[in-house]
Amino acid sequence: MQANVVVVGSLNMDLVTRTQRLPRPGETVFGQSFTTVHGGKGANQAVAASRLGAAVAMVGCVGSDAYGVQLRDGLLADRIDCQAVRTVPGSASGVALITVAADGQNTIVVVAGANGCLEPDDIQAFDQVLQAAQVLVCQLEVPMHTVGYVLGRGRELNKTVILNPAPVSGPLPGAWYDAIDYLVPNESEAWALSGVVVDGLESAERAARQLIQLGARKVIVTLGAQGALFVSAQRVAHFAAPKVEAVDATAAGDTFVGGFAAALAAGMAEDDAIRFAQVAAALSVTRAGAQPSIPMLHEVQGLATP
Ligand code: RIB
Repeated sequence: MQANVVVVGSLNMDLVTRTQRLPRPGETVFGQSFTTVHGGKGANQAVAASRLGAAVAMVGCVGSDAYGVQLRDGLLADRIDCQAVRTVPGSASGVALITVAADGQNTIVVVAGANGCLEPDDIQAFDQVLQAAQVLVCQLEVPMHTVGYVLGRGRELNKTVILNPAPVSGPLPGAWYDAIDYLVPNESEAWALSGVVVDGLESAERAARQLIQLGARKVIVTLGAQGALFVSAQRVAHFAAPKVEAVDATAAGDTFVGGFAAALAAGMAEDDAIRFAQVAAALSVTRAGAQPSIPMLHEVQGLATP
């Protein structure tokens, strides 16, 4: 089956502790549990797109270690085409050190490992996979020059290109904006990209307008419990979030992005695709872990009302 969604990005093993509350700098707290969970923003988005109805191919790198084997096997079990997932000899797989507090909030430290070895050559070798796709999805846990290459190639091939700018440390290269159809930051990413402090809907709109000024076509700021804000030069629309009891916010943004990509690939209208992705993300928040929390299509269909 040819993939209609291609995700280029990271695969990580998440090393997760649960604590009552997040430790302050310099503080030691007791954790209540420790688990290893399949994660990585790229892989999470690929899993979300696949479980939510798309035919998905993943492009990325794993290390030549046990985690690498487990991460690839996990994606294969989710029916994801992994021919473009390269094993890097002598490298460790990416890991993420995650602390989750009782209210579902988290902190994440990522060590890139093999994800840092993904080069434009890895993408060029599977150019036919990109050519066959409708939607290309990228994040920022792989080298910036590789992301830049994928965005440019996506534009040349006239694909729908989604960038989830996570994690972000500063402004994006200006030339990228022209290649991106949907820029999907969360609050802190919108802040880092625009320079506008984002602490609610009104400031999210100002930040998104700033990103439009910089060249973005369509911006969707994900705001957790406050929903999602769509902004283009023509319109602004707020989508309220479904109310849920939060257990773990890890991969909620990834579920939104993967779900949105799957919905667009299925031909859903933009607003319906946002609502569909929101329901999927809300469900993911009610469950622990990254990939284990991502819902299946039938679960979202039971709740989404386009
Ligand atoms: O977005 C959540 C993901 O961020 C985790 O799965 C972790 O691996 C980090 O990449």
